[in-house]
Amino acid sequence: MLYELSKKKAINDKIFDFEVESFNSTENVKAGQFFYIDCGGKSFLRRPISICDVLDGKLRFIFEIRGIGTYELSKKKCGEKIDILGPFGKPFNTEFGKNKISILIGGGIGIIPLFKLSKELEKVVAILGFKTKESIFLKEEFVSTCDKVIITTDDGSFGKHGNAFEALEDTLEREENKKNIGALYTCGPKKLIYGVAKFGITNNIKTQVSMEEHMGCGIGACMACVCDTTEGKMRVCKEGPVFDSKKILNNFEE
Ligand SMILES: Cc1cc2nc3c(=O)[nH]c(=O)nc-3n(C[C@H](O)[C@H](O)[C@H](O)COP(=O)(O)OP(=O)(O)OC[C@H]3O[C@@H](n4cnc5c(N)ncnc54)[C@H](O)[C@@H]3O)c2cc1C
Ligand code: FES
Repeated sequence: MLYELSKKKAINDKIFDFEVESFNSTENVKAGQFFYIDCGGKSFLRRPISICDVLDGKLRFIFEIRGIGTYELSKKKCGEKIDILGPFGKPFNTEFGKNKISILIGGGIGIIPLFKLSKELEKVVAILGFKTKESIFLKEEFVSTCDKVIITTDDGSFGKHGNAFEALEDTLEREENKKNIGALYTCGPKKLIYGVAKFGITNNIKTQVSMEEHMGCGIGACMACVCDTTEGKMRVCKEGPVFDSKKILNNFEE
């Protein structure tokens, strides 16, 4: 399906914010799902990118240049058509957070699927971790959709000094009634999501984790994206990318 790139913004020299006109209904696009994008140029396979937001029938994606695919995508110009398939994958389960506080914990580019999620939930605390003050993005938008936003930076140049996981431990220590917490939702570097997944289990809080694996077909046919779960091998593109923390914990054990 061809979508027209209607808005493009460089957040910094590595991160790009795209809006594309969708000719399909966008009502059923849910936080945690991804689209499979043909980046063009020299890149061969499509690349998975999470839905960041849906605005008046437009899809918003934010991506970071990591290699050839995302580099080629960053060179697209407004008005150009992009071949995009989706949405694919299982979204976050928003039922867990209902009438309770949901805590979103994201690191770096992993905050992207959590932005749409913050709009689908009711009472939301977002803990967003970045390397430095200069690398912070989407802060004001999270402030507009969340009840509370905690920013951390690794070097202490803005917000809390440390990482998003440490800020989560700190926040929960202060929360007198842990029963107010409906769920934890996390996406980001493996170390962060492992910490949050384990933390959720220890504290008996429902925790959903968005997993990242290299993909081939993107539609469940090639098994390139499997991860270990308590129920055997599962495909990140089909059974995921969002999993219950209890299912995927063994992926991180050495
Ligand atoms: C479900 C899902 C949703 C995603 N959503 C976003 C998003 O919203 N925004 C965003 O910027 N990125 C997102 N990503 C990551 C994005 O798909 C990769 O950065 C992209 O595919 C890299 O392609 P490339 O050709 O630029 O880099 P490549 O040349 O393919 O790789 C560059 C480097 O990154 C590593 N790498 C590439 N893909 C992955 C991966 N999936 N897991 C671990 N390491 C990898 C490679 O090993 C290599 O070292 C998502 C990934 C998944 C699986
Ligand atoms: S990418 Fe082919 S099965 Fe997931």
